[in-house]
Amino acid sequence: MTTPAPLISLTWTDHLTGRRGFLVVDRLVRGVASGGLRMREGCTLEEVTGLARGMTMKEALHYDPASRYVPLGGAKGGIDCDPRDPEAYGLLVRYLRAVRPYVESCWTTGEDLGLTQDLVDRAAAEAGLVSSVQAVYPLLDDEPAARARLAAAFAVEVDGIGLDELAGGCGVAEACLTALDRTGTPRRGTRVALQGLGTMGGATARFLARAGLTVVAVADVKGTIANPSGLDVEALLAARDAHGTVDRAVLRTEDRELPGDAWLSADAEVLVPAAVSYAIDATNQEHVRARWIVEAANMPVLPEAETALTARGVCVLPDVVVNSGTNAWWWWTLFGDIGPDAEEAFGRLRRSMRALTGLMLDRAAADGTTPRAAAHALVADRLPVIAERYGWYR
Ligand SMILES: NC(=O)c1ccc[n+]([C@@H]2O[C@H](COP(=O)([O-])OP(=O)(O)OC[C@H]3O[C@@H](n4cnc5c(N)ncnc54)[C@H](O)[C@@H]3O)[C@@H](O)[C@H]2O)c1
Repeated sequence: MTTPAPLISLTWTDHLTGRRGFLVVDRLVRGVASGGLRMREGCTLEEVTGLARGMTMKEALHYDPASRYVPLGGAKGGIDCDPRDPEAYGLLVRYLRAVRPYVESCWTTGEDLGLTQDLVDRAAAEAGLVSSVQAVYPLLDDEPAARARLAAAFAVEVDGIGLDELAGGCGVAEACLTALDRTGTPRRGTRVALQGLGTMGGATARFLARAGLTVVAVADVKGTIANPSGLDVEALLAARDAHGTVDRAVLRTEDRELPGDAWLSADAEVLVPAAVSYAIDATNQEHVRARWIVEAANMPVLPEAETALTARGVCVLPDVVVNSGTNAWWWWTLFGDIGPDAEEAFGRLRRSMRALTGLMLDRAAADGTTPRAAAHALVADRLPVIAERYGWYR
């Protein structure tokens, strides 16, 4: 599949700080594209372009003609700034003001790395926007009911964590469990190491721990916390700040503090990169001891690393499938496929992610390819079907 150039690709320079932000709309379907907004020091247009392309794929992979939610195109935004910088919030507001016409007309966005949905909502309101997803409203049958349903879903909490922050990790965990089940690997005794304990990493850790796996290492921006006998995941989750950094005061005497990259070489069957892009490269992949890498983050494994890992039998479950649950959950809720209810949401996520992961692994086995190549092949099959049904720009 040749990758077409994105429809819109723009770079914004902040007049006060000189910092840059990016917006890439890979493709519109029904006039709209979906994709989150990330903030990190060093964010580039190239990174945002790859992420926008990934969003097009996630939308296509969840295409189900029987659902009320039918896919949108893919997009992504990025701001080059450390989210903990005192200037970060003002920058976010000015970025949203600058790209406001796109958010109003064709780009639905939400939280991604470095930003929470609360912060995006607050900044969007300050930038004069109705909502970060207002571009999709014209596609809704009953807009007030849909907005009320989404607001009610965002108000749901499960054991101290919002449903919106749990949906993605529920999907990641189910993709992982599907792969384990297909190889007959028991959950008890299977060990997991994660990079990132924010929205995605935190929820994934909770769902995998509750499924019976042992979380032996988690890394955040301050370093790795490890315990071969298993960490107390709920205690770590409760001790996070708004940026997903764990307060070390809650560590038990048997927990260890290790360098930031120690999660990668942890003695674990499953690695879950759930923080930055490009985390596993051609060099550090040599330290991976796991059998599975489950991409909760976007683009965490570089292509050369994946080639080397595949050659030595490590299975990489790709981002476009694994972390697609958050996006799908928003739209299932807004379009009315599910109600604002945690059990209904988790049930739908589990069914869809299990089916999609199974389809991908079957295709990979049939074609003799990696799961990522199989996911891309599924996308290549679906995009023309979607374009046929909805046109490219209608
Ligand atoms: N939030 C979503 O809805 C969503 C959905 C799909 C995919 N993703 C992807 O998941 C990844 C994480 O996003 P998030 O929203 O969970 O982010 P977040 O900001 O909520 O959490 C990030 C976590 O990673 C840690 N971290 C950041 N830089 C690190 C580094 N260099 N080394 C170790 N740890 C580091 C932080 O301390 C924090 O624990 C991103 O790649 C994002 O694109 C997010």
